[in-house]
Amino acid sequence: MEVIELKHPLVEHKLAILRDKNTGTKEFRELVSELSTMLCYEAMKEADIYETEIETPMTKMKVKKVNEDNYVFVPILRAGTGMLDGIIKLIPNAKIGHVGMYRDENTFKPNVYYFKVPKDISKKEVLVLDPMLATGGSGIDAINLLKEKGVKKIKFVCIISAPEGIKKMQEIHPDVQIYTASIDKKLNENAYIVPGLGDAGDRIFGTK
Ligand code: PRP
Ligand code: URA
Repeated sequence: MEVIELKHPLVEHKLAILRDKNTGTKEFRELVSELSTMLCYEAMKEADIYETEIETPMTKMKVKKVNEDNYVFVPILRAGTGMLDGIIKLIPNAKIGHVGMYRDENTFKPNVYYFKVPKDISKKEVLVLDPMLATGGSGIDAINLLKEKGVKKIKFVCIISAPEGIKKMQEIHPDVQIYTASIDKKLNENAYIVPGLGDAGDRIFGTK
């Protein structure tokens, strides 16, 4: 599946501030949230809708509404939680699951420490949230866990992605559509994205 990379001057503008090492925690959080709203807007382009009737002050009319109950958002802890409020602004009734994982500093392999999703998740469309797709290990393992629960429709939503992670994700989960605000150049020797934005979790939570 083709990767969908947002191309928009506002996205470029917000990414420029987000990437800057001088951008502080407050602004970084706000930008992650705003970019997540934009990514969600794109990822929900073909959202499941139903027709219903309302009354404007003038007349009755048929309208279309999104079937919010059909969607589950699954942030990958920690950094993925920074994307949540930007998503909830658009889909306030969406159910939320959580996958907790951290990358081992030496092997760069993800370790799962938490997994909690809504009971009926197999019947829903799931959007996995993580600001960074680097080697792809975390996203791939999170999707494995969801598929083991019977989930059939999955999208992966990230702010910055590396070509290496995209390639691996497409090899292992060719059915998963990736939405990203930027496909960056490469990974460095520590599996960090270059030019990237550094450690997303540390910048969102101010831990370094
Ligand atoms: C970061 C990021 C992704 C992962 C991406 O999380 O938020 O989850 O690394 O790397 P990958 O594609 O190579 O797996 P990290 O493990 O640093 O945990 P954190 O969110 O708790 O900071
Ligand atoms: N995780 C991050 O937070 N940043 C990277 O560049 C790679 C993985």
